[in-house]
Amino acid sequence: MLINHHPFQVNQHGHLEIGGLDTIMLAEKYGTPLYVYDVAMIRKNARTFVHTFKELGVKAKVAYASKAFSTIAMLQVAKQENLYLDVVSEGELYTALKAEFPTDRIHLHGNNKSIEELTMAIDHNIGCIVVDNFHEIDLLTRILQEKNKKADVLMRVTPGVESHTHDYIMTGNEDSKFGFNLQNGQAEAAFKQLNQHEAIHLKGLHCHIGSQIFETEGFVRTTDILFNTLADWKEKYDYTPSVLNLGGGYGIRYTAEDKPLPYDTYVKDLVKAVEHHVSKLNIAMPEIWLEPGRSIVGEAGITLYTIGSMKEIPGVRNYISVDGGMTDNIRPALYQAKYDAVIANRANKPVTREVTVAGKACESGDQLIKDLPIPEVESGDILAVFSTGAYGYSMASHYNRFTNPAVVFIEDKKDKLVVRRETYEDVVRNDLSYE
Ligand code: LLP
Repeated sequence: MLINHHPFQVNQHGHLEIGGLDTIMLAEKYGTPLYVYDVAMIRKNARTFVHTFKELGVKAKVAYASKAFSTIAMLQVAKQENLYLDVVSEGELYTALKAEFPTDRIHLHGNNKSIEELTMAIDHNIGCIVVDNFHEIDLLTRILQEKNKKADVLMRVTPGVESHTHDYIMTGNEDSKFGFNLQNGQAEAAFKQLNQHEAIHLKGLHCHIGSQIFETEGFVRTTDILFNTLADWKEKYDYTPSVLNLGGGYGIRYTAEDKPLPYDTYVKDLVKAVEHHVSKLNIAMPEIWLEPGRSIVGEAGITLYTIGSMKEIPGVRNYISVDGGMTDNIRPALYQAKYDAVIANRANKPVTREVTVAGKACESGDQLIKDLPIPEVESGDILAVFSTGAYGYSMASHYNRFTNPAVVFIEDKKDKLVVRRETYEDVVRNDLSYE
């Protein structure tokens, strides 16, 4: 039985399963809160992107946006799936190096890359640096000159497309801290600097219009805008890109309200749009690079919590509190993101009431889910929240000095601890005494 549209089964004990294993067994074995991932699902998502390009006969690179969920084990899975990797910081790059991710398959992003970050990227010969601003051009060219090295780069541009998503995560519009503006001439000025620099190989353009996007029109519109510019630069500078990186942003299902498109639809519509412009311009088809993050890991992850206190406010609201919350999933508090969940040990019981799921942080806004329909529950029951695989662990905090939960991977019906639960010793590790 599929549960609430989510790709998970319920076993004969009425317990939710993930990857064929009983979530109650996992909660007992590893404790809660616990992030659990179905690795087969991660691989399936990755392969959908890669295979669709293959089927279409289009040269492509699919880079996993590791900000969605970066751990050594996850990056090893990405490596095994022959993905490329998008990193945005020294920390993400360091994790990739620890996972022995081939450095030529790593791309570096960031709107304020430090000298240290750029140096680390250049020293490790990473595959591509996505240049974001004029300051970075200065730093990068200086470092390349000092080291007598060359770099492959893409230039990040902001096409001015508004994606239909939450304001906080809209990065492709004109008022953006990211990239060179296409409308006001900054992109062209940067292009001239990069294209003529002897230590830089400008492979093409990058843009990312937003995240959790459910239609392909925004992406198609973006390619129209990019090709307007490219047509101009072809005429003026005889420039044709060998790469077009169209970022990530493909929407996933958090609740029944979300209607995600199959991932191959994004790939097919994007390729069609690029092919259309390529034939109009009469240039060679560039390689298409994508950077999916959420769509690879989001639905593959769930979080298990133990229910503790319950509070009824007659005529107002009923609360159930869990042993985690905004420290392991900041998205409801930060973006008003909606989630769906079940009582994992009563997954086949009829729902009888609605509750608000509160976290345990000292903050009224620490509420994970409003008005969740559930069956009768007791303290000690396990709540499983769906689609927490992206931007959950990676955005976790230590507010109230909570320890970050453990992460378990499930594959071939076997469970494997891939991030151990933090200890209080970990929490105070960097504290120094003042007496
Ligand atoms: N490429 C670039 C340049 C990006 O900035 C992002 C996400 C991605 C790729 C991956 O996007 P995805 O496929 O995961 O949608 N913390 C927010 C999401 C921030 C996204 C930032 N950039 C959230 O929890 O919704």
